[in-house]
Order: sequence, then C-alpha cells, then structure tokens
Amino acid sequence: MESTTKLTCFLQLLIFSFLCQSLASSSFTIVDSNSTFPSEALPTKSGYLPINPNTNSAIFYTFYEAQSPGLPLSQTPLLIWLQGGPGCSSMIGNFFELGPYRVVDIQNENIQHLSLERNLGSWNRIFGLIFLDNPIGVGFSFAATPEEIPRDQHSVAKHLFAAITGFIGLDPDFKNRPLYITGESYAGKYVPAIGYYILKQNMRLPEGKQVNLKGVAIGNGLTDPITQVKTHAVNAYFSGFINERQKGELEEAQWKAVEFVKTGNWSEATNARSEALDLLQNMTGLATLYDFTKKAPYRTGLVTKFLQSADVKRKLGANESIVFDECSDAVGEALSEDVMKSVKYMVELLVKKSKVLLYQGHFDLRDGVVSTEAWVRTMKWEGIKRFLIAERKVWKVNGELAGYAQKWGSLSHVVVLGAGHLVPTDQALNSQAMIEDWVLDKGVFAYEKKRVSASDTRAVGDRELGFLGRFIPVELFDASSFLRIANTNIGI
Ligand SMILES: *[C@@H]1O[C@H](CO)[C@@H](O)[C@H](O)[C@H]1NC(C)=O
Ligand SMILES: *[C@@H]1O[C@H](CO)[C@@H](O)[C@H](O)[C@H]1NC(C)=O
Ligand SMILES: *[C@@H]1O[C@H](CO)[C@@H](O)[C@H](O)[C@H]1NC(C)=O
Ligand SMILES: *[C@@H]1O[C@H](CO)[C@@H](O)[C@H](O)[C@H]1NC(C)=O
Repeated sequence: MESTTKLTCFLQLLIFSFLCQSLASSSFTIVDSNSTFPSEALPTKSGYLPINPNTNSAIFYTFYEAQSPGLPLSQTPLLIWLQGGPGCSSMIGNFFELGPYRVVDIQNENIQHLSLERNLGSWNRIFGLIFLDNPIGVGFSFAATPEEIPRDQHSVAKHLFAAITGFIGLDPDFKNRPLYITGESYAGKYVPAIGYYILKQNMRLPEGKQVNLKGVAIGNGLTDPITQVKTHAVNAYFSGFINERQKGELEEAQWKAVEFVKTGNWSEATNARSEALDLLQNMTGLATLYDFTKKAPYRTGLVTKFLQSADVKRKLGANESIVFDECSDAVGEALSEDVMKSVKYMVELLVKKSKVLLYQGHFDLRDGVVSTEAWVRTMKWEGIKRFLIAERKVWKVNGELAGYAQKWGSLSHVVVLGAGHLVPTDQALNSQAMIEDWVLDKGVFAYEKKRVSASDTRAVGDRELGFLGRFIPVELFDASSFLRIANTNIGI
C-alpha cells in the first residue's frame, strides 16, 4: 500500500485501530503453530541478504519455487515482488495477495484463530517468486542505523541490487533464469529504480556478472506524482463521487502539491498531496480510497498479527527480536522528500531495453487507471504514438470478462475489472493469468503474427527475416522501428 505521510498514516491508524479493537474484543490466539503454519506453506528458502559489508544491515526475503514449472528450473522465470508504502512490508504481498498461502481468520467460540489457506491464484504456479522487505527498516529487514535507511531511489536501488545479486549467488541455477521485477503502489518508484540500476550496471559489467532482467511490472503505481496528483479531481468528478464545486476545491488542493514541486519544496509537496487525498476521502466518505466498492478497508492487519508470533518468525527464519509492523514509520519518514519525485525517465529506459507492464485495479481512487494513463501519454519513447493508437482489447480469462489490455511493442497496459488497489487479493486467478501471459508473451500479450508479403520482405531485408523465420510480429512491422527493436533484445 502507499501510505505517504503522517496524515495518511494517521488515517490508516484510525482505520486499523478500529480493526484492532474488533480483534482485541475476541481474545486473539494462534492455537497450534503446526496446524496454522503447515510445512508445505513454508518458503523454499528465506532469510537475510546483506546489503553492506561494513554493517549488518540486511534485506529479509522469502522465496517460493515454482509449483509446476513448464520449463527446466534453470530456465524458469523468477519474479521479485516489492511492496509500496513507502515503508510497507512485502509480507503483505506474500500472505495477503499473491503468495501461495494467505492468512485467514476463523471465529470459534469467540476466539479468533489465524491460519493459512492455499491461494489458487498464487504467482508462483509456474514461476519462482521472491518477496523482499524493502528498503532496510521495513518488515523483517534490518537497518543497522537510522542513517542507513535510504532517502532517495538511488540508495533504494543500490541496496536492492546488493540483495538481488546476493540472492542469485545462492544457487548456480538462479544465474540464467529470466528475471522480472514486480510491485505495487509506491513500488511504482522502486520497480523502475532497481530496473534502471540493473540496466546501468549491465552496461558496465562483463557478461558473466550481468543480471538477466527481462521486464518490470507495476500495479496501481505512483511513478510520476506531479502528473498523477492532478487527476484526482477530474477522476472523482466524472465518476460521480463529487460535484463541480468540490471538484474546484480538490483542484485547488492538488495544485498546492504541484506548486511545491515547482519550487523544489519536497516535503511540503508530499504533505499537500496527502491533504488533497484526505479531502477526497472526506468528501466521498468511502471506507477506503483504495477500493470504492468496499464497505471496510482491506484486512491486512491479519498478516501483522500472524507475523508477530514468535513461532511464525522462527519458521520463516526472521530475526525474532524484530517486532513486525505492516509499515515502518521510520522508513516512511526517511523517504518523505522522495514521494513527489518522478521516476518516469527510468521507465523510458526500461521500455527501450526490456518490457514494461502497467496494470491497475479499476476501483482504486488513489493510484488508478486515469492517473496512470495521464503520465504514460507524456512518455518520451519512440513507440509512444503507436502505443496510444493501439487497440484496447477486451481481455477474457476462461471465457469471462476480466478487463482490458493495450499493447504496442514492449509496453503493455491492463485494466483489471473487479479489483481495487490490491489486485491479486481481489482478482487472484485473473491476476495470475495476467502475469503468466505477460511474462510468456501469450494471450492478449502475444505479438500478432502476420505472413510477410513480398513487399514487406524487401523493406525488412533477407537477413533479419532469416533470423526471425517466416513470421514477424505485426506490431513491430515498420521498417524504421524494426531494426531498432531487433537491437534491443525484446523477446520476440
Ligand atoms: C510441531 O511439530 C514439531 C516438529 O514436528 C514438534 O516438535 C512439536 O512438538 C509440534 N508442536 C505442536 C504444538 O504440536
Ligand atoms: C517550503 O515551504 C515552507 C512552508 O510553506 C516554507 O516555510 C519554506 O520557506 C519553503 N522552503 C523552500 C525552500 O521553498
Ligand atoms: C477530514 O476530516 C477530518 C475529520 O472530520 C478533519 O479532521 C480533517 O481536517 C479533514 N481533512 C481535510 C483535508 O479536509
Ligand atoms: C536481530 O535484531 C536485533 C535488533 O532488533 C539485532 O540487534 C540483532 O543483531 C539481530 N540478530 C541477528 C542474528 O541478526
């Protein structure tokens, strides 16, 4: 989740204290750790990845190998998941969204039992899946000193790079597996930051030391905040949540954030954005801006309760003296001047050198569809015009409407229907179908194939045709863009 400032934290506290009260009133226990944490739910590997040889700061990870890989493990893709915040733990993603087991509660004679339930929409069905508590200071990750907690995306990326290369070093078979970085919300900053950092490192490292990055995926992301913050008022107005007078008020509040960005007053800009979102919250009276259809906020507090158990920590290989919090205030504070800074330029490099998926749950009023489309339109990338006129296809899963998908070349955009901010929580199976098809270039993400005609053949040249065989992706079929794209290693 993306909880940007004290104000939002305060709002979340209000929400969670309500939740905690209802938990407290039914004396909470994890009765039998063996039945609540069955051994088949344990990660394949978990523990700590050091990020600095001079301190003991380390990133906590849990890794789940693919359940039924379609390829030999040494070629099976690996996905990394990063939670948002800034400062929220990826264990929320693990145990509430896309991991193989989710925390659920059962009321029994006024005692609440927490246990784990199999998630059929898990993202590790055919891919390996790694959750990283990022940055240090978050979840079970350890920051040796408060000063070492990153204050900008470059430091975030540097630490993540150390952790990821550390992870890859754990097993010789990890080295060549195609790697995809995924995440949600404030990870709309982290995902481009680490992706960009890897591309830059790969340019200077010998081939044997490069990281096999193939793509990045961002769900309901905050990526180009100055463009995104300007969309709340129109989005809420045209969706019928506020009237014209309120639209004006909200526009004024948004504008303050923009003005502070222009004068480089970053923490004020962050606060102004939070105020605008609070105003929207107050105007709409919704249970949560993360999903306008929900009657209560997401119950992520269940995961926090579960992970506070000493036995669960021991089983996960987490440091038992760390008190688990869903989101770290210290990390939120450290990154407060980072919130309104854009990483759009990093996505512009990633779309040239790898592939990019942007997906949004349709019910989200914080980081939703309109807010993403607004910055995508302004991307500096040769393919952007072609992307913007590409067909927005109806996307179905098992014959049922799941959403819409638009793709050109290496950029894909998906609207997930029936989902709020936490897409995998709300649409587990569809989110699984989406990520699998996107990674494997299948379904709505397939490159459309067209038999190449004689005139097309002359435009492309025989050598390239020989390389590609008789078919080429029709989307890429444009003589000028063809050679460029062929040089950028897109997985065609
Ligand atoms: C849980 O399993 C472990 C290992 O099999 C065993 O030593 C322990 O006694 C069990 N605990 C309970 C509460 O059954
Ligand atoms: C930032 O905003 C605050 C509050 O409006 C103001 O006091 C301060 O001078 C501003 N700083 C800069 C560098 O503009
Ligand atoms: C929203 O409502 C709360 C509670 O009434 C109030 O304290 C707060 O100032 C309001 N925020 C905004 C931005 O209007
Ligand atoms: C566990 O965390 C504490 C701080 O909470 C730290 O002092 C200690 O060194 C850590 N232990 C290990 C084994 O990393």
